[in-house]
Amino acid sequence: MQEEHHDADALPPSENSPRETDAALRKRSAEIRTRLTRLGRSDKGFVNPSVVRGSTVTFQSLDEFEEALACDLKDGPFTYGLLDTPTTRALAQAIAELDGADGAVLLESGLAAVGVAMLSQVKQGDHILMVDSCYGPSRILCEGMLKRMGVETEYYDPRVGQDGRPGIETLFRENTRLVFMESPGSVTFEMQDVPAIAAACRERDIITAIDNTWATPLGFRPIEHGVDMVVHALTKYVGGHSDVMLGAVTTRTRKLWDRVKITAMDLGHGVSPDDAWLGLRGLRTLAVRLDAQEHAAVQLARWLQTRSEVKRVLHPALPEDPGHAIFKRDFDRATGLFGVVLHPVDRASLARMLEGMAIFEMGYSWGGFESLLIPQHPLSERSVTPWTEDGTLLRVSVGLESVEHLTQDLADGLDRLTR
Ligand SMILES: Cc1ncc(COP(=O)(O)O)c(C=O)c1O
Repeated sequence: MQEEHHDADALPPSENSPRETDAALRKRSAEIRTRLTRLGRSDKGFVNPSVVRGSTVTFQSLDEFEEALACDLKDGPFTYGLLDTPTTRALAQAIAELDGADGAVLLESGLAAVGVAMLSQVKQGDHILMVDSCYGPSRILCEGMLKRMGVETEYYDPRVGQDGRPGIETLFRENTRLVFMESPGSVTFEMQDVPAIAAACRERDIITAIDNTWATPLGFRPIEHGVDMVVHALTKYVGGHSDVMLGAVTTRTRKLWDRVKITAMDLGHGVSPDDAWLGLRGLRTLAVRLDAQEHAAVQLARWLQTRSEVKRVLHPALPEDPGHAIFKRDFDRATGLFGVVLHPVDRASLARMLEGMAIFEMGYSWGGFESLLIPQHPLSERSVTPWTEDGTLLRVSVGLESVEHLTQDLADGLDRLTR
């Protein structure tokens, strides 16, 4: 996989992502692997930080008590459990460091992170450019609450600026405030030219944000490519065990961090230290889990391509994928989520396939240890780039089971389509 990832030469390297040699990539991945075992270990003695549950923090003097109101929210003394605890701070600092960010704000879910990132930047009368392949609830937020606030959202082609398409700057208006990306999209897996979009936005002082849940900081570090804010649903790969809901927004600058933190505070967001602790525990094994999940996903994707029931596999790590050149240029690795388009099947056959699976289960999440397989309906979730693929789209989230067993399960499932 790694060889495929760094061989060909379809796109010129972008300014901020000089082409890496395999050796440089291996060195970085080795460094991250070790760093994951060191980050957020704030306690002396025991290797893990303790779970500090609490609302109240008491002060020893009137000066201290009064100064707390003006203290540095990011690195200063703790003042109140909703804002920060030693456990939540340890995870926030770890995520920020992995992203090369100035700081991170933790939220109770990935969707809360999307919402707080957006709300921190927009006001009535502003215009947002949102990628058409975005996570469905991000679109619902734009069409619901943000519209009610008087913020207009316009959707754009995920491949804006690629293959002769006009660049993102052709969509800018006087009041464009924020451009939101997701690369690859978690339903249809189009890759975006993030460095080009970020550069165009910077010229016009437009803020950029990206949902980087698919890649995790181990696969892609958007801040290094010019992006201002990065959203993570830590619920997925970082948590990794399908037992915690958690999100984060990391920011390029302290000023952006302040805005995100104040928005989270205004809305009363706060993360449970137990959940933050689970996030930290997930980080310890993130690299080894991703190694297994990436490898298994590529093997399954390749195998699916050989099946007559399969029309197309959507996975940017495959050289034939339309997003592969960008993936190869900007990403260090893939993860375990991809799509597969079947030749059209009726609902009864699909139900026979999905309901009879021995290992794959149907569930709305991904990134956990358990493999999931669900139908997707992108047609209903897009507005400017209609999904024209004639077929049945399934999304595969590869867990930690044996690839042999997963392949057999899929083979039996595909056989059931025609039985
Ligand atoms: C791409 C993407 N972003 C954000 C989220 C939201 O994460 P959470 O479920 O933690 O709210 C999801 C959840 O499925 C997702 O797929």
